[in-house]
Amino acid sequence: MSFDTVIRGGTIATAADVFAADLGIRDGRITAIAERLGDADTVIDATGRLVLPGGIDAHCHLDQPQAPGLAAKGARMADGFRSGSISAAFGGTTTIVPFCVQHRGESLAAAVADYHGRAEGHAVTDYAFHLIVSDPTPAVLGQELPALIRRGHTSLKVYMTYEAMRLSDRQILDVFETARQERAVVLIHAENHEIIGWLADRLERAGRTRPHEHATSRPLPVEREATHRAVTLAEIAGVPLVVVHITGGEPLDEIRRARARGHVVIAETCPQYLVLTADDLDMPDLLGAKAMCSPPPRDRTAQAALWQGIEDGTIDIINSDHAPYRFDAEGKLKAGPRAPFRAIANGIPGIETRLPILFSESVVKGRIDIQRFVALTATNNARLYGLHPRKGTIAVGSDADLVLWDPERRVTITNALLHHNVDYTPYEGLEVQGWPETVMSRGEIVVERGELKGSPGRGRFLVRDVSSAWKTREIAAWI
Ligand code: URP
Ligand code: ZN
Ligand code: ZN
Ligand code: ZN
Repeated sequence: MSFDTVIRGGTIATAADVFAADLGIRDGRITAIAERLGDADTVIDATGRLVLPGGIDAHCHLDQPQAPGLAAKGARMADGFRSGSISAAFGGTTTIVPFCVQHRGESLAAAVADYHGRAEGHAVTDYAFHLIVSDPTPAVLGQELPALIRRGHTSLKVYMTYEAMRLSDRQILDVFETARQERAVVLIHAENHEIIGWLADRLERAGRTRPHEHATSRPLPVEREATHRAVTLAEIAGVPLVVVHITGGEPLDEIRRARARGHVVIAETCPQYLVLTADDLDMPDLLGAKAMCSPPPRDRTAQAALWQGIEDGTIDIINSDHAPYRFDAEGKLKAGPRAPFRAIANGIPGIETRLPILFSESVVKGRIDIQRFVALTATNNARLYGLHPRKGTIAVGSDADLVLWDPERRVTITNALLHHNVDYTPYEGLEVQGWPETVMSRGEIVVERGELKGSPGRGRFLVRDVSSAWKTREIAAWI
């Protein structure tokens, strides 16, 4: 047996096991896992390192054209597939699934063709797209969407808020129906649009327009109600549902109840909701906008409820929701240095910091074991989004997407250290323990000790299979 690369002496961790073994790689795939493997063209010493499946970030926004007429009036995303995937790779993520958005009046198929063009020739890591449906016309639901799903775009996203993208409950049911017929999985942004508008209007009338009022205008019940409605619509239509960026205990309880009724609901949270609070939006001038995302970060109680959900298995996946708006006139400050919160783009960067922050806060602090960390950040995403076992695990036959992780290294996060094209990180000064040292994609080293080795354009589009969520009727056993 001969190998292109052997990774020697590391501790391999998967969603199931932790064990000491060598890994043999040939033609971009893992071809052997054994106690001791012979020589190869390249031998990488992984002594003292964890060998993990590369992270999968299945919720990130890259080069997403903004809807004409949005409140944030055309704030531009600073990361496309090139800088976004490079930043991902430096953070230990080897597969990204950003969103291809259809705006109202547009063809979904045309939006997908355009988005392929934005990705091709740029990505360093492999990638796929979720499809955001914001105009579910009969042609979209009857022809375009089924054709796209059959071509391997097996997940869709719908919004319950944001004026330009939100669907009515009836439209959501229509999308769910096509998803059921084609066995696509649906992600939903669950916040009650009417409550947000009503509260924001009141705040505006009272002259309360600073960034922290963004959080006041979207309290937790806004998310609880919409989560309840979203899972109800999914039950009626008979589709599994992914509720993204959950921020606290109340929406999690809605999901627990839906599961107890026998329904397949998948729960996602993001690192920002575990380490930031609404207080981070309450800063001088517009600095609080650096932590402004939707839903907003909450408080310590909500954080504790999320950790509980991570520990008890309610939360299935943790993704970044990377939304790369710079803190300048192209991005967050598009409407000026005194912009009211409603005119500031929602979303914060985090594609590179997701794994280090989460490892440090969860595994190092003893909240979960390394297997659960791998499940939350890679394996469950792979299963849910039709990429398993090619991605998200370490097994013979899987792509050699691997991270040699230094579990001891301490790093203070600063924006100067990161590789995104955003001019700030909301985690400036945060100390973490654990850092990706060497990152491989299909057997090729793409990042090594802080240096980029992979060339942009090497990343491939991934045609995805049907979601594991469609392969079971048993709620607790979807993975
Ligand atoms: O504020 C956020 N999260 N912006 C990105 C878009 C979304 O809602 O996921
Ligand atoms: Zn395509
Ligand atoms: Zn969202
Ligand atoms: Zn998002």
